Amino acid sequence: MTDQATDQARPAVLLTGPVMEEVVERQLASRFDLLPLDALSDATAAAVRAIATRGKERVDEALMARLPALKIVANFGVGYDTVDAAAAARRGVIVTNTPDVLNEEVADLTLGLLLATVRQIPQADRFVRDGKWLKGAYPLGPTLRERTVGIVGMGRIGKAIARRLEAFAVPVAYHSRRQQPDVDLPYFASLLDLARAVSVLVVIVPGGAATRHLVNADVLAALGPDGILINVARGTVVDEAALLKALQSRTILAAGLDVFEKEPHVPEAFLGFDNVVLLPHVGSSTHHTRAAMGQLVVDNIVAFLDGKGPLTPVAETPWTKA
Ligand code: NAP
Ligand code: 8YV
Repeated sequence: MTDQATDQARPAVLLTGPVMEEVVERQLASRFDLLPLDALSDATAAAVRAIATRGKERVDEALMARLPALKIVANFGVGYDTVDAAAAARRGVIVTNTPDVLNEEVADLTLGLLLATVRQIPQADRFVRDGKWLKGAYPLGPTLRERTVGIVGMGRIGKAIARRLEAFAVPVAYHSRRQQPDVDLPYFASLLDLARAVSVLVVIVPGGAATRHLVNADVLAALGPDGILINVARGTVVDEAALLKALQSRTILAAGLDVFEKEPHVPEAFLGFDNVVLLPHVGSSTHHTRAAMGQLVVDNIVAFLDGKGPLTPVAETPWTKA
């Protein structure tokens, strides 16, 4: 066989965009041809067995339909709202994500963002840099003391956040669709009731249609004028227009946001608020955790294409051994 024929026989992995070159692409390249999305054609599509995606570009039914030999979509991230998992299930394609390896990292960041927001840490940093301390002390501000935190989404990361809050001696309650049997904290079946009962909401549910604008004007009004919203889930979970209004009218006190509806675009109006802390979606952004996520992407693709089954399939595409 010629080199060219050997190359043509190699299965290909389609990359919807760059996926952690030093971990994912380097390892996959030793076994597969790597095909960037802009090189996808009828000729190259036939070899594609897997998609590796960073969750920035959509993996929809139209894309999957172009790939007759597609077997697996491996998402770099635990949230897979940009992958049409229902369509994958219909087509017999497995979807995998990267659960658990990022729980503690994202929970650390969430506590950092909560403290930064309530204690105005970035604002105080700017105060020093601007030389304002020379003219007087930084004004007294809000406190985490005497607050109850409501966690919206008591899943893997929600539980890691709750454990940290316990160490901070802060009472916690939560909302999700079902009560968690292993969680001994007050449960609210209604998000509105939770918002009325607490003065901080930490949002950590999946994105997608089911949670779109879950946090709306009514929830923000229920949270009230001392209320703080922390969103580390997905931008789509919060009605951004309603949040902007609530901040403007002081319906709530402050917000800490790691995620936005149209990333990387942050509505201009947020930049003008002194009671908002803005982060560029950095919940899992450390060398350590991104490497673990990348390794899980590789391990899922390799295990599955070697016939051993996926390591972390999502609920919509469960793995049943033939
Ligand atoms: P998980 O273990 O699946 O937990 C999700 C939780 O949300 C569960 O408690 C679930 O409970 C609840 N939930 C789901 N749909 C809901 C709905 N419609 N209404 C109310 N509650 C709902 O997921 P995880 O690993 O903790 O990750 C959660 C999400 O965090 C990810 O999907 C991702 O979007 C986001 N995330 C963000 C970053 C970042 O960098 N900012 C990093 C990692 C993850 P029920 O099913 O009982 O409702
Ligand atoms: C990543 C995330 O930043 O895992 C998730 O759901 O939101 C983050 O860990 C993202 O998926 C990588 O682009």
